[in-house]
Order: sequence, then structure tokens, then C-alpha cells
Amino acid sequence: MHEIRESFDGFLSGAIYDLAARLTGYGPGYYRRAAWAMPIQPGMTVLDLGCGTGSLSLALADRMSGQGRIVGIDLSERQLRRAREKVTASSVPIELRQASIRELPFEDNSIDAIGISQVLHALPEDELTHTLAESARVLRPGGFLALVEWSRPRIGYTSLIWSLTVLGARDSHNWRGTYPEVMADVGLDLAVDVYLDSLNRCQVFAKPRRE
Ligand SMILES: C[S@@+](CC[C@H](N)C(=O)[O-])C[C@H]1O[C@@H](n2cnc3c(N)ncnc32)[C@H](O)[C@@H]1O
Repeated sequence: MHEIRESFDGFLSGAIYDLAARLTGYGPGYYRRAAWAMPIQPGMTVLDLGCGTGSLSLALADRMSGQGRIVGIDLSERQLRRAREKVTASSVPIELRQASIRELPFEDNSIDAIGISQVLHALPEDELTHTLAESARVLRPGGFLALVEWSRPRIGYTSLIWSLTVLGARDSHNWRGTYPEVMADVGLDLAVDVYLDSLNRCQVFAKPRRE
């Protein structure tokens, strides 16, 4: 499984990942705001790509009042083990699958919504393009992809903590704000664009309905 970032099958995974995330601005409030920024409806089929320890999947389940289907996908066994523990503890029906987000095991036009939080910035450009093309393939017309990623910082707690990291990535899509162009290349159009806190942004890209 060559595509995975080593760190997510090593020390910084599972419960340690959750603790580090919470201390650096990615606690439950971040996932709740992300889920509520998306035009999700109960009954939808939703994918959480690179779901990690399942925090966004759980917030989405809450948002959908347990109605619908949520599938979390990640390559890291350690991250998924922690996600399974959290899902079991909260008794919500979330499916978790070990797979690559490069090759989604779903039919064309079969998915209502995709959430993807803090994954794309770490992918090489060819893998990013491949993953987004795959996402556009499985989305139904009228469906959407919600990208939740760090962005150009404003003044606040999270941006302060991550300032050195983000300043070192000023040539990235995150800093330059070029995801709308990247998404347009795979046929997805910007529909919603909001900051969730001083650093993170939710951008919703819709797949046009057929004429
Ligand atoms: C920074 S974590 C974000 C986890 C989660 N989305 C969140 O917001 O807490 C990135 C996750 O992407 C997963 N990942 C990276 N490349 C992947 C790939 N090609 N296929 C599936 N998962 C991948 C990693 O295993 C890791 O769990």
C-alpha cells in the first residue's frame, strides 16, 4: 500500500492522533462545524475519504440524525482500528473500509455526497488529480464534494499553532486558494465557501445535474 503516508500507520495514529488533533485545533467543534457547513440531508449516501479515526464520519452521522449511509475509507489499519472503537462506542451505523481513495469501490453516479478533511494537502499532484477524478465519477449529478482543508490563515488560535507549517507551504493549493480551478478540471463547480475557524475552510463543489 505505497500511497499511504507512513505517519498514519506509525506513532501518530489512532488515539495519539486524536489527542494531538484536539490540542491543535481539531477537536469535536471543528468536525461539527465541518458537518454543518455541508448541505447534507438525512437519507443520503455519504463517503468520508481518508476518514482517519472517524471523527468527521461521526459528526456527519449526528448531522443526519442516523438516517442514511456513511462509509469511511482509509488505508491505515491503525486509524481504522481507532475509528471502529469510536463508532462502536457511539452505536451509530457507520461502515469503515480499508481502501485507497484513488480507486473507490463504488459504481458511477451512485454517491450523494463526499466529505474529505485534511487529506488532499498531503497528496502528490498526480494522486490528487486521480482522487478527484474518481470522486467526480462516483458522485451522482447534483451530488457534491465537501473539501475541508486548512487555508490562508486569519488571526486566531488554530492559525497561530500551525503558522510555521502553513507559512512553509505558500506554494500549495491551500495557500493560493486554487482548489476551484483544480475541481473545475474534473467537472465540479464551487457552490459554498466558508471559513470554519481562523485556518480551516469548507468548500463545497457540486457535480452539475444533467440537462
Ligand atoms: C491528516 S489525516 C485526516 C484524517 C481525517 N480525515 C480527519 O480529518 O481527522 C489523513 C488521513 O488520510 C489517510 N490517507 C492518506 N492517503 C490515503 C489514500 N491514498 N487512501 C486512503 N486514505 C489515505 C491517512 O491514512 C490518514 O488517516
